[in-house]
Amino acid sequence: MTKDLNNLLEVAREAAKQAYAPYSGYHVGSAVKCTDGSVYSACNVENASYSLSICAERAAIFKALSEGKRDFTAIAIYVDSDKIFPPCGACRQVIYEFSPKITVVYANHDETIETTIAELLPGAFGL
Ligand code: THU
Repeated sequence: MTKDLNNLLEVAREAAKQAYAPYSGYHVGSAVKCTDGSVYSACNVENASYSLSICAERAAIFKALSEGKRDFTAIAIYVDSDKIFPPCGACRQVIYEFSPKITVVYANHDETIETTIAELLPGAFGL
């Protein structure tokens, strides 16, 4: 993995510290890198009405979009858990919408996996 991706993962790891996850206990952080070099990070935010919760990846992308960014080169996701998990299906679709060629890195404390959205979401839906 490149130094740049490693730095992005470190930002995601920091963001996981802000997670509001009293229901699942999974503290997730994400950081997205824009083509202009800027980075936006976010954490998962849960709600007592469970389905209103938002994943860290979507929160990070929506934050960047809200600042006018539209193109991303990489997204990192860190979960503070013994279990490692890739982005959920909903997040894959949102990631794909803006950057069909984006690099995706996901990790926990002892494993890091580097892949692409093309690999995670083959045959993606797009208009
Ligand atoms: N979560 C994420 O933040 N990203 C994912 O891709 C999968 C799941 C969060 C949502 C919820 O707060 C917790 O992890 C358990 O599903």
